[in-house]
Amino acid sequence: MAISKSIQQHLIQLRTTIQEHNYYYYVLDNPQLPDSEYDRLLRELQNLEAQYPELITPDSPTQRVGAPPSSAFSEVIHSLPMLSLNNAFDDNEVYEFDQRLRDRLAVNTIEYVAEPKLDGLAVSLRYEQGILVKAATRGDGARGEEVTPNVKTIKTIPLKLRQLEDNSFPLVLEVRGEVFMPKASFEQLNQQHLANGEKTLANPRNAAAGGLRQLDARNTAKRKLTFVSYGVGLIEGGELPKQYSELLYQLQQWGLPISVYLQIVQGAAGCLTYYQNLLAHREALPFEIDGVVYKVNDLAAQHTLGFISRAPRWALAHKFPAQEALTQVLGIEVQVGRTGALTPVARLSPVSVGGVTVTNATLHNQDEITRKDIRVGDTVVVCRAGDVIPEVKRVVLAQRPPDTTAFQLPTHCPICGAEVTRAQDEAIARCTGGLICSAQRKQAIQHFASRRAMNLDGFGEKLIEQVVDNGLVKNVADLYQLTREQWASLEHKGEKSAAKLMQALAKSKTTTLANFLYALGIREVGETTARLLAQQVGSLERLAQTNEEQLQQIPGIGPVVAHHLVNFFQQPENLAIIQQLQQHGVHWADNSSAPPLSTQPLAGKTLVLTGTLSSMTRDEAKTRLQALGAKVSGSVSSKTNYVVAGVEAGSKLDKALKLGIQVVDETTLIEWLA
Ligand code: IVH
Repeated sequence: MAISKSIQQHLIQLRTTIQEHNYYYYVLDNPQLPDSEYDRLLRELQNLEAQYPELITPDSPTQRVGAPPSSAFSEVIHSLPMLSLNNAFDDNEVYEFDQRLRDRLAVNTIEYVAEPKLDGLAVSLRYEQGILVKAATRGDGARGEEVTPNVKTIKTIPLKLRQLEDNSFPLVLEVRGEVFMPKASFEQLNQQHLANGEKTLANPRNAAAGGLRQLDARNTAKRKLTFVSYGVGLIEGGELPKQYSELLYQLQQWGLPISVYLQIVQGAAGCLTYYQNLLAHREALPFEIDGVVYKVNDLAAQHTLGFISRAPRWALAHKFPAQEALTQVLGIEVQVGRTGALTPVARLSPVSVGGVTVTNATLHNQDEITRKDIRVGDTVVVCRAGDVIPEVKRVVLAQRPPDTTAFQLPTHCPICGAEVTRAQDEAIARCTGGLICSAQRKQAIQHFASRRAMNLDGFGEKLIEQVVDNGLVKNVADLYQLTREQWASLEHKGEKSAAKLMQALAKSKTTTLANFLYALGIREVGETTARLLAQQVGSLERLAQTNEEQLQQIPGIGPVVAHHLVNFFQQPENLAIIQQLQQHGVHWADNSSAPPLSTQPLAGKTLVLTGTLSSMTRDEAKTRLQALGAKVSGSVSSKTNYVVAGVEAGSKLDKALKLGIQVVDETTLIEWLA
């Protein structure tokens, strides 16, 4: 049966529209359509293609994961070699680079484009008549591996270039750029690996490289990789602009993502300002970078400068200080936390990592030490990435001194001597001393005094250690019992500081239910959970009488938290301490508008749905939520009670987080609807 022209045309139109919206969404980061409308278009296309499979084209937006798994990667010979970059490690080398270039070009000053040096892997994308036909890794620069099906799963890479009215693309265009994994995707991936008992990946670069080399492209799709263009290879049948910056803008027009952080700068001084600026923002960037790259902006000048061995003369990678360093383990200490958890900590010979001096690193737990076989005396690689605390990555076994012994956590608490136990399915060993253990007591009091809990100004670690060690304070309520004279008699304290401490104590007596709950240090009850409980349960008395089942009705409270809460309020000592605190005048306002606990959790609640749900459409979710008495709204405001976030939730999720609105995932949604 002949397929009517109008269906063919409609398909083309749908694809073009979707492609255009992909461009706004992924390249310009400026969505022009509500997600629901976009989903509707995509579904319409999917349905039509299912009906007319003979009309599916390889560049259709539905064809991102289509190819069957392959058994190997074939070799690609790059039509133009993929080069590497020369490195600079300090300012001087940047000045020398600029001087060299000015001499060669016989000019006074040079304009550069500065951009982040992304920590991923280089790929080359070949577009023929605007269609992505081949993608290859860099390999050794001359030959790489073909990874087309995998690359097609990366949503920021257009399968088809945008057709511009006045400026069409070349017949053959090879785009070069970096495939990498954003930090958030990397963390998510490692969480999944941990949950599945798999080995975690060392860094986003390895995760990206591994992701691209999946034989089954469906696995690549799961890794949430992204792409930024930074150059071109072969071009046939078309002209390009005269400047590198214009070339990038041209690529962007064709639908290819470019770095939003790129900047045109003047001379070495401009390069160095850019470097400092990006270095200062390194941790806040959503992806990892290991430096910045400077490139001569004038393409004719680039041509004049040419290459030397495998790197262009016209570009320079200015590296950031390494986030890894070698040092020695001087000792392994065992710390006892607020809940009795024993944490082994490596004392290290001081070393600078990424510009910060590191003297100790957490070793997490016994399993971690056993797995890495870390011993006192070992030379180890320490790393610091993002705002993560320093970590020992691995041991340099070749440098292990003779006579070392494997480390074992003690069987008894190093502070109080009580027995150490470890639950069968837990990685953490704990001291069983409870509040008899002075380490646990100190930590509990420190937590109580901390800024986000009771905000006791001036109650630092040293002070608390002193009052616990000399027996003046056994629990948090005792803090309010000490007289001004007693505070003044402490080491390094006088009348003046005693007055200040008394003042801080007095001030802390007016608090909020959420802060007080958090201050109690109940296991698994962090700030967010405390706030949620205050909001949903309303008063401490009610909370103390609520059972595990009722608690679990509150979205966001799972069985573990519920168990710890009930357990806490079952201990007479805990109730006595709360009573004493109240007798000392600690008070807060209850939340009288908290819903009754036994009713439907969603009645009268306003919800917003965002992102893509995998088990149902958003319309379906909406109808079912409404049937439970919820109001489903299209935009997030302070009146929103919950935001349900699916995959790739965007600005609504950001807004919810900004407004402190509770965000739940699809699993919670399904529980609600069950
Ligand atoms: S340009 C002819 N620009 O760094 C120049 N490379 O050390 C070729 N890289 O293989 C590369 N960010 O994987 C360029 N903004 C950037 C880059 C970048 C990261 C990587 C790329 C390259 C390696 C060279």
